[in-house]
Amino acid sequence: MCGIVGYIGSRDCTEVLLNGLTKLEYRGYDSAGIAVFQNGKISVAKSKGRLKNLEEKMEQENSRPFGHVGIGHTRWATHGEPSDVNSHPHSGGRVTIVHNGIIENYKELKDYLISQGVTFDSDTDTEIVAKLLDYRYNGSPIQTISATVRDLEGSYALGIIFADHPDQVYAVRCESPLIVGVGENESFIASDVPAIIEYTRDYYLLEHEEIAVLSGDGVQIFDSFGTPIQKELKTADWDVEAIGKGGYAHFMLKEIHEQPTAIRNTISPRIQDGLPNLEECGITPEVLRRFRHIQVVACGTAMHAGTVGKYVIEKLAKIPVTVDIASEFRYRDPLVGEGDLVIIISQSGETADSLAAMRLAKSLGAKTLAIVNAMGSSIAREADMLIYTHAGPEIAVASTKAYMVQIAVMYLFSFELAFALGQIDEAECRRLIRLLQQTPDAIQSILEHKEKTQYIAASLINADSLLYIGRGLDYALSMEGSLKLKEISYIHSESYAAGELKHGTISLITDNMPVIAVATQKALMEKTISNIKEVKARGAKVIMICRSSDDIDAEAVDLMFGLPDFEDILMPMIAVVPLQLIAYYTSVLKGNDVDKPRNLAKSVTVE
Ligand code: G6P
Repeated sequence: MCGIVGYIGSRDCTEVLLNGLTKLEYRGYDSAGIAVFQNGKISVAKSKGRLKNLEEKMEQENSRPFGHVGIGHTRWATHGEPSDVNSHPHSGGRVTIVHNGIIENYKELKDYLISQGVTFDSDTDTEIVAKLLDYRYNGSPIQTISATVRDLEGSYALGIIFADHPDQVYAVRCESPLIVGVGENESFIASDVPAIIEYTRDYYLLEHEEIAVLSGDGVQIFDSFGTPIQKELKTADWDVEAIGKGGYAHFMLKEIHEQPTAIRNTISPRIQDGLPNLEECGITPEVLRRFRHIQVVACGTAMHAGTVGKYVIEKLAKIPVTVDIASEFRYRDPLVGEGDLVIIISQSGETADSLAAMRLAKSLGAKTLAIVNAMGSSIAREADMLIYTHAGPEIAVASTKAYMVQIAVMYLFSFELAFALGQIDEAECRRLIRLLQQTPDAIQSILEHKEKTQYIAASLINADSLLYIGRGLDYALSMEGSLKLKEISYIHSESYAAGELKHGTISLITDNMPVIAVATQKALMEKTISNIKEVKARGAKVIMICRSSDDIDAEAVDLMFGLPDFEDILMPMIAVVPLQLIAYYTSVLKGNDVDKPRNLAKSVTVE
């Protein structure tokens, strides 16, 4: 999704903006631009494509602005195709803005402005905001912003400069995230912490309709009526190293390797004397005993983590769990209310559909529990109960370590719930916790012997389509394996419950449709092997992910990745690692942009 950076200080503003935007590249974008005050005038440069296209364009045209105040943007197209003209910043004349979000009533506003004689150059909703601000501008930026945002419906984070205020940068937000960084004699605005952490760790989190003014005197914040307010200054505890590649070829590979540490960081503070303890998150045995049904709501990879959670909770705690995609849940009049626990899982904590689903669940009387990675994000702030996953910043668009810690939290939660409900006794709860604590070592052993996954990836690169199959927890896991592959390799793939294949999908099997079979659940092994034989008999090349110790008939499969032996219920944490690596190496071998796959965004802050 779009990224915003703004700066005021004594550094070369263009350099700070480009550097900050580079740190936001992980969010996904298709064009970029900056606006900088140069000798008191606003100078704009923008270009379709990557930031390097913008830099090349500025170099060729000798148009790189030099100044100390400005705003920058990476755009992920929503209204209007990716093009130079649709790129931000957009200008209304005296007002120039960058925008993240979607203005839902843009048509109505545009019609009104056209009736007033205003003309438009781009297809964007953002230009309408720029023109509306300009139309309303009365010489007082704060009054103008505060009056204008009242007319906007939808979501927005705006960075704004006024031609007649060359020593100030303004910002305002509603739904879309925005922070204000405070350094020594310099200030910043940004969509996310990585953009500014090189310069400062201190920042304000802008809330709904708050307006920030950055000037030579520092930062002032106003409420939506223009009254000055005091806010708590937060400190980002992220390690600057953590947002670099640390010697790995890609962020994704680095993040896959960070998984053992991420699990330890996430589970250790929640285990006391060998038992789960989620009290600091607002979860006690008494609270847990109130729920009769659990609804998990999330998007993408986070939804797949919820699906693993469903199998585990139902198996151990014997409470019914339903899993829903947030964009479906929010529009289907869901039957949740008092007595239901709604778990929202989100790496970014800003996914628009997940946030809206959570608000809906709350309004219906359900209790909400958020499992979130990004500190201070909207979902984290609004949930009734909160478990942070401590994965650290995840930069690659394809989620790996965030998924891993999401499922680690689902296990912790399930163990605590099952114990609280008397479905497992203390000894069993302790045993499960000990096993969970051993997962990082098992994952490490896979990472140290990962060569086979490269070999498997090499066998996939010419396939047009792939099928991932499994049963039970292996089916839940194959959904994530399939998504990972299609996100970054651009090879079509589908995950299917192995037993359902013969009801239609098996007709697709040819010798150019490899099948990745995940088989880690002992009780279902024989059944999955029968399904493998069915696809093999129809010409499929079969790649099997199972334990090294499994006695598999060599004739039944073409390639195999052997996993360390571990308890069935925890196998998803182990088995997902080769699936991540297979997707990663397939993408590398195809020469794709692994960390920034086409059309995808890391944080989807619009519907
Ligand atoms: C985007 C990302 C996915 C992610 C999904 C949900 O589609 O590309 O990797 O799983 O959003 O994001 P969240 O931040 O809510 O986990």
